[in-house]
Parts: sequence; C-alpha cells; structure tokens
Amino acid sequence: MTTPKDFNDRMLSLGLARVSEAAALASARLIGRGDEKAADQAAVNAMRTQLNMLDIAGVVVIGEGERDEAPMLYIGEEVGTGNGPAVDIALDPLEGTTLTAKDWPNALTVIAMGPRGSMLHAPDVYMDKLAIGPGYDDGVVTLDMTPTQRVEALAKAKGCKPSDITLCVLERPRHDEMVAELRGTGAAIRLIPDGDVAGIIHCAEAAVTGIDMYMGSGGAPEGVLAAAALKCMGGQMFTKLLFRNDDERGRAEKAGITDLDRIYSRDDLVTDDVIFAATGVTQGSLVAGIKREVGFVTTETILMRSKTGSVRRMTYRNPTA
Ligand code: FBP
Repeated sequence: MTTPKDFNDRMLSLGLARVSEAAALASARLIGRGDEKAADQAAVNAMRTQLNMLDIAGVVVIGEGERDEAPMLYIGEEVGTGNGPAVDIALDPLEGTTLTAKDWPNALTVIAMGPRGSMLHAPDVYMDKLAIGPGYDDGVVTLDMTPTQRVEALAKAKGCKPSDITLCVLERPRHDEMVAELRGTGAAIRLIPDGDVAGIIHCAEAAVTGIDMYMGSGGAPEGVLAAAALKCMGGQMFTKLLFRNDDERGRAEKAGITDLDRIYSRDDLVTDDVIFAATGVTQGSLVAGIKREVGFVTTETILMRSKTGSVRRMTYRNPTA
C-alpha cells in the first residue's frame, strides 16, 4: 500500500513527462533563431509552471544556478504544490542552448526526480566523466586508466578490435590531447559541439546510436542528470569533480562536499530510485526533434524508471493556438 507521501514513481512519471514536453514546446519557436537566452528562458518558464502543478514537495538540487544568479529554478527552490512526497529534482530546461539556437542536433529538455536526499548536490564546476552502456562487468573501464587502456579494455570485453569502438567526446580544446591519444588506438570518435547528457545516454543504446563509450569533462550538474538516465537504462559511469580555483572549491564545500577528490559512480550520484524524462528539441538520435506543421506541433519524449528499467518513448501531438 502506498500513501500520498510515498515516492510513487509510477504515478509521478507521466507528470514528469508533461514537464519536459512543456519546456520543449515553449522553445519550439526559438529553434534556429540564434538566440540562446530566449530559448532557454522560454523553456525555464514553461518547465517551472508545469512543475508547480505536480503534487510533490520538490526541491531543485540541480537547477539553473545559485539563488543569486538564477531568478527561476535556482538550486534550493521549492517546487510543486507541496502536497505529496518530498522529492529532489534535477533539471536542465534546455540542454544544448547553442544547439537550439543553431538548429544543430540533440538539444533536449531534461528532468529527473527521486526521493529527497537521493541526488548529489553537484556544484557548477566541471566534472571528468566516463560512461559505457549495459552488459559489461563492473569496472571494466575506470577513470584511473589512460584513454588508450580504456579503449583496449572495452574492445576486449566487447570481443572486437579497438578500431571497432566508437567514442563520443565534446569537441573542446581541453580535450585535444586526449583525442590525439585516442586517434592512436584506431577507434572512431564522434565529436559533439555540445550536449553531454545526450552524449552519455547514447552509450546505453549502442546498437542504435553506434556509441560505445563517452569520455571527457563537462558540467557537473549535467553529470548527475546523465547518471539518472543511465540508472534507468543500465550502464556504468565514473566521475570526478574538477576544480580550477578556490572559488570552485568553495562552491563544492558550500554544497556540502568534503572529499574533493572523490570518484563518484553512477549510483553515488543518484543513490535511490529515480524517474527521468527528456524531450527532443532539435532532431536527435535518441528522440525525434519537435515537428511543427500547420495547426499542430509534435514532440517525442523518452520516459524511464530505474525501479523497473522501463524505457518509454511517447509522441505528443498538440494543437497550436
Ligand atoms: P548549455 O545547454 O548550458 O549550453 O550546456 C551545454 C553543454 O555542452 C553541456 O552538455 C556540457 O556539460 C557543458 O555545456 C560543457 O561546458 P563547456 O561548454 O564549458 O565545455
């Protein structure tokens, strides 16, 4: 028997999909318009309005920024009607603001929900990330290994040659050295301009996306969101926070993190059952992008629950006003 205060993930999941859909619909008219800020703001407004309709006592733990820098969906903001289970919310109303502004693939709206206290309060710093999909022995690749060792270990576990492995890496100057080393293994590299949540999720469906492994640094908040997705779909993830200065170390301490060198696995980032929803904004290999036709607009959402490992893809056709 569940009570209204329990984290009833089954009941809450459809509400979460609505939140993610609303954010995508709001950013639809801003795809390819060259205005990152407007697209992000539209998604934030819509996500917040829809989130506040849910019967939850939610707290944003991964949000748009600290309270003094983000007027809406800031870290610590209470969301929902207050009637319902106490939950943590991790969100990125528009993951890939530049992708949206330029109409490049794989921009998503993303949200995850778990019981209160289940998600790392990741500060807004970089995080070293390593991810692979399901079906491999635990720890077959680790952060301690060199990029070459990771490719060789994964190829061995997959029963193929290193040159049959495909990696996904954010294209950034800070990754040039790693990419140069990876080239030496013969592996293929899909360099993405932005959007490492999608990059990591791609590993969980390697047969569809062609991506076996993700590596490199990106935002720590995005790391928690990706961990929530992999917890539902299966797959391994290893991460470490990266600090460039004392201000960033201070952000971590403020978030209650004491061991600054800790390696966080997927289940350290998200410690309990979680539900995850993401809606395609621009065209993507995980979910279709928003389709606009005269009279209506259609979205596709991936909705998942870690308790059951269920992955649903839902299309939603909505008449335009
Ligand atoms: P935005 O949606 O905020 O633009 O973030 C996109 C993103 O590519 C993330 O997916 C990634 O984690 C982060 O930016 C990487 O940061 P940087 O652009 O500083 O390398």
